[in-house]
Amino acid sequence: MENKKGSLLYEGKAKKVFAVENDDSLVWLEFKDSLTAYNAQKKAEMEEKGTINLKIATFIFEYLKSNAVESHWLKTFGERDMVCKKVEIIPLEVVVRNTLAGSTAKKFAIEEGTPLKAPLVEFYYKKDELNDPFISDDQILALNICKEQQTLDQLKKEALRVNVLLKDLFAKAKIDLIDFKLEFGRTPEGDIILSDEISPDSCRLWDVNSQEKMDKDRFRRDLGGVIEAYKEVLRRLLEV
Ligand code: TMP
Repeated sequence: MENKKGSLLYEGKAKKVFAVENDDSLVWLEFKDSLTAYNAQKKAEMEEKGTINLKIATFIFEYLKSNAVESHWLKTFGERDMVCKKVEIIPLEVVVRNTLAGSTAKKFAIEEGTPLKAPLVEFYYKKDELNDPFISDDQILALNICKEQQTLDQLKKEALRVNVLLKDLFAKAKIDLIDFKLEFGRTPEGDIILSDEISPDSCRLWDVNSQEKMDKDRFRRDLGGVIEAYKEVLRRLLEV
């Protein structure tokens, strides 16, 4: 049976989430053209951004699925929409870093682009009012955000597995995967699966040769050419 978009459940910074008529186990995501940074203090609308990110996220979810990584993604429609399994989002941003950049480079006053000895997994607590602060394993457990260390170990292991696959995929597209953010959700059966989106909004992607930025840092840092860079990421991925 064909899915029909139901009522709006939630509007996020980059996506709207709708119910799916007659199926409570699904949600309908609509990708918006909005770009936000610094907890939405900086905002813009960029034509085609939603469509490009939908295509990139779909490509990545399909690729991960073909490598036995389960996610909430089920199918993509047209220019803006995907239907996903409904999950209860775990309020953690799971960041994987291969090369030092962004907030962790700033925190330790180390030059961006410094290689890390091994991929680094960090948790941030998803709470807009607090600007998504860094949170330690012990804090997550003490605050009962997750009940068991075992869950955190599972999140780290899955994030590192995704990192290996994505690093390889982007390398084939002549792109260095510097870092990225993942979100996970719990299915009604209690399984933990990848959710949200993976796109240039949630990754740092540098051209292998020029080290030119091809991600949302172009917007954050007013470098220009945002849509052109996102398009180039998509073009290269489709060529892989
Ligand atoms: P950071 O260096 O600002 O901590 O970001 C690390 C990576 O996570 C970077 O690729 C951007 C991504 N990210 C998001 O997608 N959403 C967020 O809210 C944050 C803080 C980071």
